[in-house]
Amino acid sequence: SVNTFTHPLGITVDRFIVQNQHECPEATGELTQVLRDIVLASKIISREINRAGLSGIEGLTDEENVHGEKQRMLDVIAGVRFTRALVSGRQVAAILSEEREGIIDTGNKHAKYVVIIDPLDGSSNIDVNISVGTIFSVYKRISKHGEDFSIEDFLQPGTNQVAAGYVLYGSSTMLVYTTGNGVDGFTYEPSLGEYFLSHPNIVQPEYGDYYSINEKNQESFPDAIREFLARCKKDNMSTRYVGSLVCDFHRNIMKGGVYLYPPTSAYSDGKLRLLYECNALAMISEQANGLATNGNHRILEICPTWHRQRVPFYAGSKSLIEKIRDH
Ligand code: AHG
Ligand code: MN
Ligand code: MN
Ligand code: MN
Repeated sequence: SVNTFTHPLGITVDRFIVQNQHECPEATGELTQVLRDIVLASKIISREINRAGLSGIEGLTDEENVHGEKQRMLDVIAGVRFTRALVSGRQVAAILSEEREGIIDTGNKHAKYVVIIDPLDGSSNIDVNISVGTIFSVYKRISKHGEDFSIEDFLQPGTNQVAAGYVLYGSSTMLVYTTGNGVDGFTYEPSLGEYFLSHPNIVQPEYGDYYSINEKNQESFPDAIREFLARCKKDNMSTRYVGSLVCDFHRNIMKGGVYLYPPTSAYSDGKLRLLYECNALAMISEQANGLATNGNHRILEICPTWHRQRVPFYAGSKSLIEKIRDH
């Protein structure tokens, strides 16, 4: 028999965000608005992505971005949508986007928060109809309200995130986020234009049978990682790797497993970026009972020295990440 949808279309993400705000005495509604803005932009992007193969926006632009990657039209469109939503919502003073060189000034000098965003993660997969994502982090700014923002607002350790999450544009579009009180997942119902709470209190299994890694440069991996991978194989674990970080990460959160992006000969600190990608996912991991490290330290405790900093990234089920740490 067909399994019926066990989550009634009950709690919308909007209601959930507001409810949470009421439970937090010092909350004033500004963070609520930031989350709503992100939700709105993600709906627009979800629509664009669903139509990408027809509208032609999955293709490349003539530009390279600041990380030396080819930029796609959808990368740019997604960046613009998030920026517009956050500018209109007026609760964010500045934005740092993976796809843009400088800090984006929203003109909202009096806002309390700043946002770091990877508008479209896994965008090299978009033209072959593979799932992509969005990753975001929200921080309280360090600079004074009413004054100009500064780069220091963005160079905070991940432990300072007040909210973080991702959107997965997959077979369904899903939003997964945390404000430091566990992790919740919402599934988008496109004909209603609403996200509904479908995965309350996500907990990553402590053990897992999956590992996700691009083994292309395995001969240059650190010994600890090579040993860990040998162990995974011996333990009969399965490999799963899409090449969209959000997808690979999400699978491991739900099923139990580990995601690895170690240093390689091409990228001596790994390929993934601490600010745009790793911090948000590390907060989700920890809030969901998992761990995220660079091999020696918690990702969240790394003090960034510059905005495009890369870090080795190992995130996933506790028992698996602990094995990596042991070395
Ligand atoms: P982005 O599309 O935002 O630039 O991110 C690309 C990242 C990440 O999504 C993915 O997991 C990783 O690059 C894949 O790297 P490899 O192709 O080296 O496996
Ligand atoms: Mn990119
Ligand atoms: Mn990315
Ligand atoms: Mn990206």
